Amino acid sequence: MKPVCVLGNGQLGRMLRQAGEPLGIAVYPVGLDAEPEALPIQQSVITAEIERWPETALTRELARHAAFVNRDVFPLLADRLTQKQLLDRLGLATAPWQLLAAADEWPQIFTRLGELAIVKRRTGGYDGRGQWRLRAADTATLPAECYGECIVEQGINFSGEVSLVGARGHDGATVFYPLTHNLHQEGILRTSVALPQPDRALQQQAEQMLSAIMHQLNYVGVMAMECFIVAEGLLINELAPRVHNSGHWTQNGASISQFELHLRAILKLPLPTPVVNAPAVMVNLIGTEVNSQWLSEPLVHLHWYEKEVRPGRKVGHLNLSDTDSSRLIAALAALAPMLPPDYAGGIAWAQNTLR
Ligand SMILES: Nc1ncnc2c1ncn2[C@@H]1O[C@H](COP(=O)(O)OP(=O)(O)OP(=O)(O)O)[C@@H](O)[C@H]1O
Ligand SMILES: [Mg+2]
Repeated sequence: MKPVCVLGNGQLGRMLRQAGEPLGIAVYPVGLDAEPEALPIQQSVITAEIERWPETALTRELARHAAFVNRDVFPLLADRLTQKQLLDRLGLATAPWQLLAAADEWPQIFTRLGELAIVKRRTGGYDGRGQWRLRAADTATLPAECYGECIVEQGINFSGEVSLVGARGHDGATVFYPLTHNLHQEGILRTSVALPQPDRALQQQAEQMLSAIMHQLNYVGVMAMECFIVAEGLLINELAPRVHNSGHWTQNGASISQFELHLRAILKLPLPTPVVNAPAVMVNLIGTEVNSQWLSEPLVHLHWYEKEVRPGRKVGHLNLSDTDSSRLIAALAALAPMLPPDYAGGIAWAQNTLR
């Protein structure tokens, strides 16, 4: 098996490395402190766990490497302007949007998009950072540097959020997981629930959308598509050309995790559709210290990233899965008192989604 070098060394790179280990695939996440001599660069396949990486001599070498999979996709999707243009070109439903070029556009923007405008930085935003929710009275609060550097979208009154994680192989074949239901609070993913029998119409629509995108980009590997559910079906919120937080449940809820699936796709290994037999829940650990008490609940799988704990920072996640959803609901009830109070809403939401 060829080794894999990953641009970026956050938790996604760490989990790619963990997934490679049992298969005998050596995965090397590459951060700023990486030592080029320690990497088998020439023999490696190159991938990334982030859309943009800091420029160093090493990252430039990896980004130029002949075996860098999806090289041209990263800049295209890292910029929300070109990402939205791609969706429009493919005729795929997305939140109505435009480039925010100048402050004198505001009256026309509210006329066209309605009373709530969501301004998003074209590049570099994550976990709700680099985003502003604005009504007509608030536009003066937007930093001047945003003009030209942001897009503005219609605030969508969605009934829920889902994401689709799928993969495309070198031969163009695609596979998908069941849709994941996601609860975001203040722009950050708190909790995900996946059901083995998703709504068929939504699943089909989502698979058609993500297939069209992956084929258009000649993409290889795992891609995630975040969507809003509205009366007419799905609107695409955004795309991630990589493994994704909303797919973390697959580590313990699917026969092949999204991390292994990505490695299989980029290394031209067999890519069957992962089997999902049971509902699964993922609870993100955000700015919370690790607590060994969580392990007293036998359904809990702890994934701890060994990062410094800071407010608002994703530092780990808990996965739970069971064929019997009532056992899963009970396990979540047992877990709730072992977590800070702000987890209660997400846990109750997960329990409701399982019912
Ligand atoms: N147009 C919109 N209308 C309503 N809510 C929105 C809209 N855009 C974003 N949101 C809310 O904010 C969340 C984060 O937005 P988005 O996914 O665009 O940002 P992000 O910071 O890039 O997140 P990520 O960490 O997933 O990359 C969404 O999941 C959704 O809950
Ligand atoms: Mg998002």
